[in-house]
Order: sequence, then structure tokens, then C-alpha cells
Amino acid sequence: MALAIILALVLYLSCQIEAQLLVGFYNGSCPMAESIIREEVRKAFFKDKGIAPGLLRAHFHDCMVRGCDGSLLIDSVPPNKAEKDGAPNGITLRGLEVVDCAKDRLEKECKGAVSCADILAYAARDSVVITGGRYWDVPAGRRDGRISRAAETIDIPAPFQNLDEITAAFAKKNLSQDEMIALSGAHTIGRSHCTSFSNRLYNFSPANSQDPSLDRLFAAQLKQQCPLNPRGNVDPYLVVSMNMSPGHFENSYYRDILAHRVVFTSDQTLVTSPESLSEVEDYAFNEQEWQNDFVDAMIKMSQIEVLTGTAGEIRSNCRVINP
Ligand code: HEM
Ligand SMILES: *[C@@H]1O[C@H](CO)[C@@H](O)[C@H](O)[C@H]1NC(C)=O
Ligand SMILES: *[C@@H]1O[C@H](CO)[C@@H](O)[C@H](O)[C@H]1NC(C)=O
Repeated sequence: MALAIILALVLYLSCQIEAQLLVGFYNGSCPMAESIIREEVRKAFFKDKGIAPGLLRAHFHDCMVRGCDGSLLIDSVPPNKAEKDGAPNGITLRGLEVVDCAKDRLEKECKGAVSCADILAYAARDSVVITGGRYWDVPAGRRDGRISRAAETIDIPAPFQNLDEITAAFAKKNLSQDEMIALSGAHTIGRSHCTSFSNRLYNFSPANSQDPSLDRLFAAQLKQQCPLNPRGNVDPYLVVSMNMSPGHFENSYYRDILAHRVVFTSDQTLVTSPESLSEVEDYAFNEQEWQNDFVDAMIKMSQIEVLTGTAGEIRSNCRVINP
């Protein structure tokens, strides 16, 4: 009797500790799931290369707020302002229509089986692979949350933050500084709105009109791409490429940091401690090491506070919680 209780307890505890997501989760319930999602990502990518960085970032933003539960995908319904419309998201999000297309096909193929949170996790992996990154098997079985609040996007780190601040934002989600540095390499693809870094170009501080940690030539180039309008502001719709090869998933991001040619304070700040600097230097000159660490950190990030089992729901429309 006592033994049975102990055994049950051990079993219970080991289930608590082990990751509850499984590679090939849809083998039985929807064997075509992964290939349908990959097909939708590829189709959309060949029309608009920007969907790959868009989907990777969307997965990150989903995971940082209430875990990877698809809460980012929910539309605002007044009076609720959803995550989508929170400050770090809004007009900077892109690629989410690909999730809708995949969901439509999956509902026809295997109704009610595949969560929106998993679609986004698979699509993020496919986006890395399609831009030249390493492949990995995505553990799945996430369920969709029913709550999405713009105010909670405060958990997403901001581009003007320093090393301690972004490290703390990741620590809050049980991700280490090393993992944060590996994940930041995602900024090797995509674009940024000028307004996400224009504080570094104009009126930076009383002593410096522009950020002294920014390469002068690079700053001049960014100012040309992000000029002040007659009202003295930067147009909110202007965008720049993250770097010289914004469609290619490679470690040049870390060399750009060493050359002071990265757009965000949160990127440049990775050289401000001896430990973080040495990791940036490692990744700058060792592509394989970074690609491997990136994948390991993604697998961990994509399991933040996931809903599993009977928690949450499988949304039938990724934008709307089930009635
Ligand atoms: C370390 C803290 C981070 C900060 C402060 C940060 C901030 C930002 C900002 C401000 C943008 C530009 C958005 C815009 O203006 O359009 C951006 C873009 C992007 N971020 Fe991050 N980010 C961080 C980490 C990450 C991580 C961990 C990932 C994914 C693993 C990621 C993936 C991306 C991608 C792919 C883009 C390009 C989006 C596009 O082209 O549409 N970021 N990030
Ligand atoms: C699904 O199938 C793959 C390939 O046969 C296998 O590696 C994986 O473990 C299976 N997953 C589950 C949950 O059955
Ligand atoms: C981080 O780990 C602690 C201790 O294991 C756990 O209680 C907490 O829920 C975790 N937080 C997240 C966001 O995963």
C-alpha cells in the first residue's frame, strides 16, 4: 500500500519535471499537420520573404507572454485589448495570416486536432530552416489559451534596454543570459521600424546627439533611411533591414555587434560584460556553435509555461477564443 503511494508519487513528480510536449505529437491525430504547415510557410515565403522573420518573432512574442499558448494570435474584442495590440506588437507584427491559412486547411483535414500555439511553433522552425538555419524536431502538444491582454506585453523586452534589463526579462521565463544571447541571433533576419531605434540617432542624450556606441558611418546611413519629418519626428511606417543580408539566417549578426553596426541598444549591449562579450565573440567566429545553441535555446523557449493535456482548448479559429 505504502509502496503504491510512493510509486504513484514518483510517477506524478517525474511527469511534473519532464517536458510534456512530444516530437510527432500529431502522428496519430493529424499525420499531415507538419507538412501542411510547412507548405503554407513556403507558399507565403515565396510571395513575401518577410513572413519568415515575422513568424519567428511572433512565436517569441507569444512565448514571452503567458507562455506559448497562441495568445498572441487572438484579436482584440472591445473592451478587451489583446496582446496583438500591445506596444511591442501592433503594426510591427507580420506573417500571422500564414497561421490562419494553415489553420483553415488543418480544420478541414483533422477538425479540432491541431492547436494554434503549435502551428506557430512549427511555423517558426520552418521559417528558420527556409532562411538557411538548422532544422530541429519541434516537441508539440501545446494547447491554446483563452486570455490575451495587451498590458501583459510588458514582459517582452524592449530595444532600448540594457544587458541587465534584457537578462532579467529572460530570467523571468527561466531562460539564461547565455540562451538570451544565442536567441538574439534571430536578428540576423528581418527588418525594423525606424521608431524602434531612432532614439539612438537623434537627441540621444544631453552630451551626445547620437549614440556613441553606434558606428558613425552606420549611423549616417540609418539617418538617411530614417529622416526626421517636418514635425521633427520619424515616420512610424519607415523600415530598415536588420543588416546587409536580412534574408539569410547566419552568424553575421555577432560580427555586426563587434563592429557596432546593429540597430538596437539591446543588441549592442551584449558586449558590455566580459562573459557576454566572450559569447558574442565565440558566435561571431563559430557558425556551427551558434546554430546549435540557437536550436537548443529555441526548444527551451518554445516550452515556456505551455498548456497541455486538458488545459486550455484547441481553438477552431486562431483569432477567436472558442465560444
Ligand atoms: C533580446 C531581446 C529582444 C529585443 C529587445 C527585441 C526587439 C526587437 C525589435 C524592436 C524588433 C523590430 C520590430 C519592428 O520595429 O518592426 C525586432 C525584430 C525582430 N526580432 Fe527581436 N528582440 C529581442 C529578441 C528576439 C528573439 C529572442 C527573437 C526570436 C528568437 C527575435 C526575433 C526577431 C525577428 C525575427 C525580428 C524581425 C521581424 C520582422 O522582420 O518582421 N527577437 N526585435
Ligand atoms: C511519431 O513518429 C516519429 C517517426 O516515426 C517518431 O520519431 C516519434 O517518436 C513519433 N511520436 C509520437 C508521439 O508518437
Ligand atoms: C521557472 O521555474 C520555476 C521553478 O522550477 C517554476 O516554478 C516557474 O513556473 C518557471 N517559470 C516559467 C515561466 O516557466
